Amino acid sequence: MAEAARERVWITEVGPRDGLQNETSHVPTEAKVAFIEGLVSAGLPQIEVGSFVHPRWVPQMADTGEVFAQLTRSPSARYVALVPNLRGYDRAHAAGCDAIALFTAASEGFTAKNINMSIDESLAAFARVAERAHADGIAVRGYVSTIFACPYGGRVAPEAVAAVVRRLRDLGCYEISLGDTIGVGTPAEVRRLLEVLLAEAASDDLVMHFHDTWGMAVANVAQSLELGVRRFDASAGGLGGCPYARSATGNVATEDILYLIEHLGYDTGCDLEGVVAASDALAAHLDHPLASRVYRAVAAGGARGAHG
Ligand code: HMG
Ligand code: MG
Repeated sequence: MAEAARERVWITEVGPRDGLQNETSHVPTEAKVAFIEGLVSAGLPQIEVGSFVHPRWVPQMADTGEVFAQLTRSPSARYVALVPNLRGYDRAHAAGCDAIALFTAASEGFTAKNINMSIDESLAAFARVAERAHADGIAVRGYVSTIFACPYGGRVAPEAVAAVVRRLRDLGCYEISLGDTIGVGTPAEVRRLLEVLLAEAASDDLVMHFHDTWGMAVANVAQSLELGVRRFDASAGGLGGCPYARSATGNVATEDILYLIEHLGYDTGCDLEGVVAASDALAAHLDHPLASRVYRAVAAGGARGAHG
């Protein structure tokens, strides 16, 4: 009997942006390009190449235009650039991105520190950027940071997140990524938030973006899957953090959630060994070991033997 088709889960690779933006060692442009090409070859369908923010604020992203210029692009992937304002949009458009990602937060403290705007100011600025992008045929993704807690303002209510999600949806975002910026959320909070959001948004419009500071990110992905979410951001090797949230560590590792999601019976279209190889090549340019548990297990020769 033919095997039933497995349900698809979509992973957006954010390592080249969210991961690398917080690395202090200099990563050469060529290494970033090879990292991205390796991840796309491994099957990742959407990849955040970098950001067009002020280079003084995030120096590691200063060469994003050059990364775009050097990339050999695959028709199978969508290449995204993070953009805070019109100036960033002009740079991203010139670089030839397929999509931009606009980013704000559910808390005023983080929004002010991160982009020097209030939430209202950011959404007003984004309205102009989104209008230009849509006219130019560039897709628009949205981010809401601090979905559970803000490093400057404490706990965040689900209703505050829902209000920003609504406003990003009104700007025509094709999906909205929900960031647990400082990685404090637990499955109980994931459930509380998603029950509110899924009452008014389709699960396909939402993406979960977990940082793993308190070690809950894989459990949070499992909980989100159970509630119907099929889109996740992740960072190869578990790279990352956020320069404006000092306590944040890396994103949940792409390898770790691939292992989880595939073993739960879903199809990600991604090849774990290919992701590990891309992480491995990048690791040579970093001044610390990679955090991903699955990356380490594969590197030690464990995972394939036991679990095929
Ligand atoms: P500002 O200082 O308020 O900007 O910074 P401004 O509009 O007053 O302009 C000041 C100068 O910056 C001007 O130059 C502008 O041209 C220039 P001058 O006239 O002085 O020579 N400028 C720019 N230059 C290059 N690219 C630009 C740009 N914009 C203005 N795009 C700004 C405001 C948003 C620019 C600044 O705050 C910034 O760059 N912030 C970056 C923040 C960032 O990258 N944070 C990390 C990413 S967010 C994140 O990691 C969270 C996420 O992963 C989700 C989660 O985990 O929760 C997405
Ligand atoms: Mg992030």
